[in-house]
Amino acid sequence: MVGSFEDAFCAAMLNPDLAAVVINEGFLQQSRHDAPVLRTLTSSIEPLEAADSALRLAHTLKRVRPELDLYLMSNRNVEELAGNPEADVLRRIFYSVEELLELHLAILEGVQDRFETPFFDNLKKYAQRPIGTFHALPIARGKSVFKSDWIRDMGEFYGTNLFLAESSATTGGLDSLLEPTGNIKRAQDKAARAFGADHVFFVTNGTSTSNKMAVQALISPGDIVIVDRNCHKSHHYGMVLAGAQPLYVEAFPMTEYSMYGAVPLKTIKQALLNLKAENRLHRVKMVDLTNCTFDGHIYNTRRVMEECLAIKPDLIFLWDEAWFGFARFSPFLRPRTAMGAANDIEAWIHVPKSVQAHEKQRTELGNNPSDEVLLKTRLIPDPREVRLRVYQTNSTHKSMSALRQGSMLFVKDVDFHTVEAQFHEAVFTHASTSPNQQLIASLDVARRQMELEGFGLVANAMEGAFAIRQAVASNPLISKYFSILGADKMVPAEYRESGFVDFLAPGGNWVVARRSLQEDEFCLDPTRMTLVCGTAGFDGTQFKGILANRYGIQVNKTSRNSVLFQSNINNTRSDVAHLIRVLVEISGEIDRGLSQGGANARKTFDARVKSLMTDVPDLPNFSRFHDGFRGDAGEKTNEGDIRSGFYAAYDAEGCEHIRLADAEIDRRLKSGPELVSANFVIPYPPGFPIMVPGQVITQETIDFMRKLDVKEIHGYDATEGLKLVCAEALAKLGDSHSRTHGIKAAAE
Ligand SMILES: Cc1ncc(COP(=O)(O)O)c(C=O)c1O
Repeated sequence: MVGSFEDAFCAAMLNPDLAAVVINEGFLQQSRHDAPVLRTLTSSIEPLEAADSALRLAHTLKRVRPELDLYLMSNRNVEELAGNPEADVLRRIFYSVEELLELHLAILEGVQDRFETPFFDNLKKYAQRPIGTFHALPIARGKSVFKSDWIRDMGEFYGTNLFLAESSATTGGLDSLLEPTGNIKRAQDKAARAFGADHVFFVTNGTSTSNKMAVQALISPGDIVIVDRNCHKSHHYGMVLAGAQPLYVEAFPMTEYSMYGAVPLKTIKQALLNLKAENRLHRVKMVDLTNCTFDGHIYNTRRVMEECLAIKPDLIFLWDEAWFGFARFSPFLRPRTAMGAANDIEAWIHVPKSVQAHEKQRTELGNNPSDEVLLKTRLIPDPREVRLRVYQTNSTHKSMSALRQGSMLFVKDVDFHTVEAQFHEAVFTHASTSPNQQLIASLDVARRQMELEGFGLVANAMEGAFAIRQAVASNPLISKYFSILGADKMVPAEYRESGFVDFLAPGGNWVVARRSLQEDEFCLDPTRMTLVCGTAGFDGTQFKGILANRYGIQVNKTSRNSVLFQSNINNTRSDVAHLIRVLVEISGEIDRGLSQGGANARKTFDARVKSLMTDVPDLPNFSRFHDGFRGDAGEKTNEGDIRSGFYAAYDAEGCEHIRLADAEIDRRLKSGPELVSANFVIPYPPGFPIMVPGQVITQETIDFMRKLDVKEIHGYDATEGLKLVCAEALAKLGDSHSRTHGIKAAAE
């Protein structure tokens, strides 16, 4: 029970156990308690009028905790209130206290609605029924396991339910993932509600598949896609499958740590403006970006979409939020998610002020603003023209309680009806006809958990991350050798317009952090922590091995001189304590080694640190597609026909191999013919393709590869060398390319 707007807001923010809120009209605005941080957050709220204070509170609560059920008890004209579209945020409206039992039942029903997991509930029922199976899948019911003398331990290990819940049938109410009409459909609809989407597809082969499905469904051969070159390989392969023309854009580099940040908005706008200048803007279908990146860079999703829509109002956005699904359940991070921003833009589109803002800017900019002006202006799209088409993929298994490979694809697209059939084709193309029941059930349950306790769990994950950051920064021994990179190190100042430095900077609090989250072009996911270990004399892979083998601590990713820790909804304070203990122990060992090893030990250590921290290779940008693989690209932009590049590798006669160390490489770089990659080459770490099929290989790429000291390089066999498209094959392509160009030019 609280008596004021501020106290209600505070309770919703601080009490994760809240499941529903009953708003009784007639409360004060300000808390009688002194709460300076809260006041800074609520200072922008205009004074409440008695007439609309309840609705204002309801909207505020819905914004910070959309999962909460809100009920209103009013002594006034409830019939009129119920007809007000603004009251849509309320689950039910009651007249005064006349219906307390109804209110009680409504609250329980609301919680039950979130608790219900249509697919999982039915799967449990199904598992308890006596069923004779005469279909393929002998493991279903477990008899082949439990009766076996040789594999019974598998049954004992996993328990009976796993086998009882296995089925290859879609009878017994199990529904079909390929064409859901029953409880999978209901489970997906609930997920759509929970994540703020219009539609959701459950995917049981990871976000690798969700991405390929989205690209296939939305892109036709020849469509141009503006895509972060540093994105997950599923996007690149999706482009190959779809026959898209990727126009690669580059993220800002963080050379010192051998990693990339995110793609600046200016770069994306420039790409669109270049295409416009060549009269090819109509060919651009999609902007495809990763939010947040592996290392935690979060885009200003709303700003990116609004500014791009101001240049091309029907652009589709595909946001790969493989790592960021949990963000929906943090009021701080939600506006930065694709669905969060899409909902905000949708609301903005319908406010009359938005048209005025657009018109005003159009008058100010005049008829033909230069690219320079457009690049530096925060563009406002025309809300009357915008077709809001937003897609988001998320590896539910990476940040919520879904089994490995559980992923969801969210849709918020006003024109979804025009591509729905294509999505069904994409499901048919990529989904197994034998999807795993347990995976589907876990997606259903993950949604239930997040709707009921996600808010608290995510807050906890963030708190754990802050505790780790704090301990590393303040412990005198750990901080001698290790550090966790703050926003100031991960995001160049030009993209931190708010001036935000880091979560732990003196004077920092959520008010300051929120300003950064609202305004900055990029900010940092607090749960992703880049721990620099090069300063302790370890490369990332080596340090990852030490943590795993000696201490049973697994980390997420490595770079040349860092490892990435991720806190999640699973972490406890004991986990944090263990990690800190381990870092203290390792730091202590280094310290002792150095003090006991004399000058030589210090010299070796310093040299190792220098090599890891300063002798780092420059990160090579995407060069260009070879002319034979440029399709009908224009002069100013560097998109290409990646599919024909990819299939060039299928022609063994037309390909050659040259070893990286071979002097032939240097000779060809100097005097040609050009070296053209026949396949993707993706070193881990860092994990981005330094070569894509059809790409011209430059000196920078070779230098980078020669300096790479990682063992895992996908697409590259050190004994055979680089796989290249032969000069003769390229010459033939060149001919057909100029022929196609000639024919097109003549036709035009
Ligand atoms: C940005 C990004 N997208 C997609 C994926 C693939 O997700 P999944 O492992 O669920 O297939 C990954 C995997 O690491 C990723 O980092």
